[in-house]
Amino acid sequence: MFDFQPDPDQPKAVLYDDLLSAAGALVAGERDPVANMANIAALLWQFLPDLNWAGFYRMVDGQLVLGPFVGKPACIRIAVGSGVCGTAVSERCTQLVDDVEAFPGHIACDGETKSELVVPVMANDEVIAVIDLDSPSLARFDQDDRAGIEALAQRIAPAVSG
Ligand code: SME
Repeated sequence: MFDFQPDPDQPKAVLYDDLLSAAGALVAGERDPVANMANIAALLWQFLPDLNWAGFYRMVDGQLVLGPFVGKPACIRIAVGSGVCGTAVSERCTQLVDDVEAFPGHIACDGETKSELVVPVMANDEVIAVIDLDSPSLARFDQDDRAGIEALAQRIAPAVSG
């Protein structure tokens, strides 16, 4: 049994340190990418307040395909360059969106979403997946969240590729 007890009131840097440690413990010794993505999605949901969607899209045959997540059912396939997720792939970099309505081409899977953070997961210099976090609050994510999720993406990349 895993019994992580995040304290959402602690400083974000500490919260993300704890999240990274928990993620490392969860994927240690497990090579199945779907199982690992599923547990990481659950962990993101448990650790980070004020989310309405947390999960993965995977690169499959040149497009993003829905992966393990927590939240409402979402669009299944996203072309590279489309929406926030597809832009993270085409630009190979994090997209931090304070107001999704101001992002050209944003794909509204859940009408409650107001802000979004999408971080590419890289392996062998290729984007293999993205981590997508949605919030019902405007400007929910800041540079600490960006740094924390980028560190997480780097840490888990070997465990979610393959
Ligand atoms: N909003 C995303 C689509 C995925 S959902 O948020 C789960 C986008 O614009 O790419």
